[in-house]
Amino acid sequence: MSFPKNFLWGGATAANQYEGGWNEDGKGESTADHLTLGSRTEPRRFTETIEPNTIYPSHRATDFYHRYKEDIALFGEMGFKTFRMSINWSRIYPDGEGEVNPKGIEFYHNVFQELHKHGIEPLVTISHYELPYALSLKYDGWAQGETIDCYVKFVTTLFNEYKDEVTYWLTFNEINSVSLEGSGYLAGGIHSIKNKGMAAGVLDKEEEIKYSDEERNKQYQALHHMFVASAKAVQIGHQINPNFKIGCMIGGVCQNPYSCKPEDLLATIKARQSIFYFCSDVQVRGYYPSYMKRYFKENNIHIHITEEDKEELKKGCVDFYSFSYYSTGCVSTDENVNKTTGNLVFGAANPYLKTSEWGWQIDPTGLRCFLNEIYDRYQKPIMVVENGLGQSDVLNADGTVHDNYRIEYIREHIKAMSEAIEDGVELWGYTSWGCIDVVAASTGEMAKRYGFIYVDYQDDGTGNGDRYRKDSFYWYKKVIASNGEDLD
Ligand code: BG6
Repeated sequence: MSFPKNFLWGGATAANQYEGGWNEDGKGESTADHLTLGSRTEPRRFTETIEPNTIYPSHRATDFYHRYKEDIALFGEMGFKTFRMSINWSRIYPDGEGEVNPKGIEFYHNVFQELHKHGIEPLVTISHYELPYALSLKYDGWAQGETIDCYVKFVTTLFNEYKDEVTYWLTFNEINSVSLEGSGYLAGGIHSIKNKGMAAGVLDKEEEIKYSDEERNKQYQALHHMFVASAKAVQIGHQINPNFKIGCMIGGVCQNPYSCKPEDLLATIKARQSIFYFCSDVQVRGYYPSYMKRYFKENNIHIHITEEDKEELKKGCVDFYSFSYYSTGCVSTDENVNKTTGNLVFGAANPYLKTSEWGWQIDPTGLRCFLNEIYDRYQKPIMVVENGLGQSDVLNADGTVHDNYRIEYIREHIKAMSEAIEDGVELWGYTSWGCIDVVAASTGEMAKRYGFIYVDYQDDGTGNGDRYRKDSFYWYKKVIASNGEDLD
C-alpha cells in the first residue's frame, strides 16, 4: 500500500472563485471583484468601477458564503480528510489595512468549526489571486513595500484568531505567476498594469501581451515584496503556534524539451529555472538562486533588495512545498512548432499527449517525474494542492452527471503519485482542484467545470445554484475510503 495511513485526501477551492457574497456583511472590494467574465478565446477585462449589466464572476461565484454547511456535508460524505480554501482578505480587512471586520472573522470561524465537525482538516491559502482593491489603488498592489506591512497585520490576525482551528497554511497561491506576462494582475494586484494582466490560459492571446522594461521591473519588485511577506508570515506563524505547518504554493509550469536537440534542453533548463524553480528556491532555501543574476541582467531587471530583506528570507523558510499540476508543455528553439496553452503559460505542443477541451495537455507520467525532481531538490514534504480536468459537463434530467473523463484523468494522476511515493517521495496530501464547481480563474467561466459536485449556475447568470453529485463523487469517495487502493 503506497499511500501513508494519514494521507490527506481532499479538494481545493479559492474564495474569489467559490465564496461569492462579495459585498455582504462588511466585506470590502477585492481586485478579483473587478474582473469580468471572459471565455476561452477572449480575455477577462478589468474595469475601474463596477459596470451595470456586466457579469463579474466573483460576485456570486458558486455561493459558498451561503451554502457552506451543505457543501461541507457533501465533502464529509466523500470522506475528505482535508479541504483547501482561501481567506478573502477584504472580508477580514475591508480596505486592507484599517479596522478588522468582526463578521468576516466570524464567518471563517463558522467554516472551520463546520469542517472539524465532519473530521476535515482545513488547509488555508492566505492569499489566492486577490488583494483588497484599496491596496491595489493606494500602493499599486505588491509593487510597493507598504503592502508587506498590511499583509503582516492580516496574517497576524488570522494566526491569532484561528490558531486552534487551522494547522496547515499556504502563504500565496501560485506565487510564480506574478512574474509571468499575462497573469501579473491576478496575483500581484498591480494596478498600473491591470489591463495587460489577464491572458493566462486564453488561447492565442499570449502573443499580444508584452511588458515594457518598467512593467517587468515592477513585477519582479512585487514578487520580491511577496517573498519578504511570506518569510515574515512563516516566522510570525511559528511564534504563535509552533505546530503550524506553513508552505509555499507554486504554479506547476512543468516543461520538457521538445526534442533531444541540446539547445532545446538548455532552453528547457533555463525556463524551468526562471519560471518554475525560482520562487520555491527562494522560499524553501531562503535566498535568491545564482542563475537569476544572469536572468535579471539579460532581461534588464533591477530590483531593490535590502540586507534586512535577505535576513528575513533566511529566517522564513517554509516547512513544506506545494504546487498545482494540470499539464505539461514543451520548450523548443524552433519557432514553427505547434503551440498549446496550459495553466499560466504557453508552450510547444507535445505530439505524444492528449489535449483537454480547453487546450491543456494531459500528462500523468509528468507528475511522477516532477514529484521526483522536486523532492530530490528540496528534501521537504510535498502536497499536490491542485490537479483536475476542466471540462463542460452535462446535467441530465434525472440529476446525474456522467463524467467518466474526469475519473479517468484523476485515476491516472493518483497512480502517478502512488508510483512517486514508491520512488521515495514524501507526499503529504492531494487536493483535487475545484472539488465542487467554481468559476474558472483564467476565463471566469462556469462552463469549465472541475468538480465532483455539479453546481447549477451557468455563464449567463442563470441557474438556481443547486448541488448534484457527479459520477466522480461516488468514485472519489471509494478512492478515499480505500486510501488510494481502489481506483476502479
Ligand atoms: C490555478 C489556480 O492556476 O489553476 C486556480 O490556482 C485555477 O485558481 C486553476 O482555478 C485552474 O485554472 P482555470 O483557469 O481552469 O480555473
